[in-house]
Amino acid sequence: MKAFRIGLIGAGGRGVSLAKNVSESGLGDVVAAYDPNPSYAKEWMRAAEYEIPLVDRDSLLSDPKLDGVIVGSPDHCHRQDAIDGLRAGKPVLCEKPMAISIADCDEMLRVQKETRQSLRIGFNLRFHPLYQKMQEIAASGKLGRITTVWIRHFVGFGGTYYFQDWHSRRALSTSLLLQKATHDFDVMHFVAGSYTRRLTALGRRSYYGGDRSNALTCPECEEKYTCPETNLDPAVPRNQCAFRQEVDVEDNESVLMELESGAIATYGQCHFSPDYHRSYVFIGTKGRMESFESMRRVEGWQRDNRVEVLYRQGVERETFHFDLTGSGHGGADLRMIRNWLLSIHEGRADTENPIAGRQSVAVGCLAAESLRTDNRWLTLPSVV
Ligand SMILES: NC(=O)c1ccc[n+]([C@@H]2O[C@H](COP(=O)([O-])OP(=O)(O)OC[C@H]3O[C@@H](n4cnc5c(N)ncnc54)[C@H](O)[C@@H]3O)[C@@H](O)[C@H]2O)c1
Repeated sequence: MKAFRIGLIGAGGRGVSLAKNVSESGLGDVVAAYDPNPSYAKEWMRAAEYEIPLVDRDSLLSDPKLDGVIVGSPDHCHRQDAIDGLRAGKPVLCEKPMAISIADCDEMLRVQKETRQSLRIGFNLRFHPLYQKMQEIAASGKLGRITTVWIRHFVGFGGTYYFQDWHSRRALSTSLLLQKATHDFDVMHFVAGSYTRRLTALGRRSYYGGDRSNALTCPECEEKYTCPETNLDPAVPRNQCAFRQEVDVEDNESVLMELESGAIATYGQCHFSPDYHRSYVFIGTKGRMESFESMRRVEGWQRDNRVEVLYRQGVERETFHFDLTGSGHGGADLRMIRNWLLSIHEGRADTENPIAGRQSVAVGCLAAESLRTDNRWLTLPSVV
């Protein structure tokens, strides 16, 4: 098999990390990247000890030798970047969330059909052994009919990851129910085997945001040694004040959903939790399963990945342990990249994947709309 030559649009933290995965896969390399902020991109490359030549956007998209394009730009750029990649005749791996509105996702789906190119959304958790096991157990029928889903997302690095740069502005991300929860809504759809039919939500900003200047950054702040949200780490170049005026996304949300299968699901996300992990419970008519992920706490990482299954009758309990030593979401990032590159080699397009991307964005957008208005129930529009 020939070595893949991949292009990258958006060489920030995530883009550079995925580029490194391409090389680690042994199947190719990212040979060129475009980023409108080269010095920022270079900071991430330095931190990752991985160099990619920076080129201009047009020469990247018109390079006939590129076999595919990874879109690692901020969420509000995904629509344009992915569409330009598809129109340039390249298979595209676009980071999650697919886009920041349902209309943008639908446009991407239309262009994908029109160009007959492969469009993948970066749902790395579908390549995580723990969630793959949950999907396998649910699909085997051992739990009976899935009736109930409870998901909790404890976001321990909320300040640094989501409130110190573009993530915290609705104009650029719509809501953290897309940016962050898009993974969870997708895992819910993947494991339960059903998309969401309708939902209602409640949420607010309970901690971040405030009256500080939009221009304030941690290194320049007088309170940099006392503020609980200070980020002075040069390896993580996100340091806008987490309490600045422009912050307008919620940090505390709950969503209640009915799936097309009739199952009832709840999702809770809090961005100022002292620990960082997700917890999923799926209950069926014959039993229930629960995930336990490695978590970061004040005292450090507690490494433990397992799925526990309890049955109403017969087998008492099953526990599946996962020894996840790989970096990048327990090695899921590398597995996702390998799978994408092999799918290009085999000319195999996963047509369901971008629809799943659209459906999880639809849940996030409608949940944000519900909680920002009068918490009304909203029904997902069909894919057009
Ligand atoms: N799947 C995952 O687990 C995962 C993890 C982290 C981030 N992500 C996703 O990756 C994307 C990037 O996140 P990040 O944390 O690296 O953000 P980031 O801000 O660190 O990097 C984004 C990069 O894109 C560049 N950029 C800005 N405007 C652009 C444009 N118009 N065209 C091209 N590039 C542009 C920025 O200069 C920056 O270098 C986001 O969509 C995020 O949701 C996914």
